[in-house]
Amino acid sequence: MHILVTASSKHGSTEAVANAIALRLREAGHAVDRRAPEDVATLDGFDAVVCGSAVYILQWMKEAREFIERFSAELSQMPVWAFSVGMSGVPKHAPQDPSRIGPLSTHVPGTQTRFFAGRYDPALLTLRERSVARLAGVVEGDFRDWDAVGAWADSIAGELAAR
Ligand SMILES: Cc1cc2nc3c(=O)[nH]c(=O)nc-3n(C[C@H](O)[C@H](O)[C@H](O)COP(=O)(O)O)c2cc1C
Repeated sequence: MHILVTASSKHGSTEAVANAIALRLREAGHAVDRRAPEDVATLDGFDAVVCGSAVYILQWMKEAREFIERFSAELSQMPVWAFSVGMSGVPKHAPQDPSRIGPLSTHVPGTQTRFFAGRYDPALLTLRERSVARLAGVVEGDFRDWDAVGAWADSIAGELAAR
């Protein structure tokens, strides 16, 4: 199958998660295109889509939100998996309601969003970002769970194979 893996990332941690998903799907024998959401002009030729974004102030990034809005009609007719990368669930950070992340639940009914813990490295951020993150109680560190990311990609490959 021909799969689009697209994700928005500001500081690279979500980018690496998307790359790991793409690699795993390729290893399962699929043809995978890895593109930024704003670079996708059409979904013609794709059989499935994996779309993700880093979460900033409870929201997906603009480019990922716009991707979902732009292609909502096509996405509702094809298999779609979504993932968010953020610090929700990491100790000290308040749990958040996944339905507030991105416009997926309103634009592509039935899509499940998987949440992965991300990376917070203050050295990569602007002063303003650091202040917001500090107020939100974001914990410093790299909490990405590569086994969980790989297992999720494998489950997607398994579901596609069963179709
Ligand atoms: C200013 C700022 C705001 C953030 N807001 C949230 C948030 O609302 N929810 C969340 O789960 N994580 C939040 N995070 C954590 C980021 O989502 C996390 O660091 C993520 O790995 C960043 O992805 P990126 O490296 O791909 O940009 C925030 C981080 C920063 C710096």
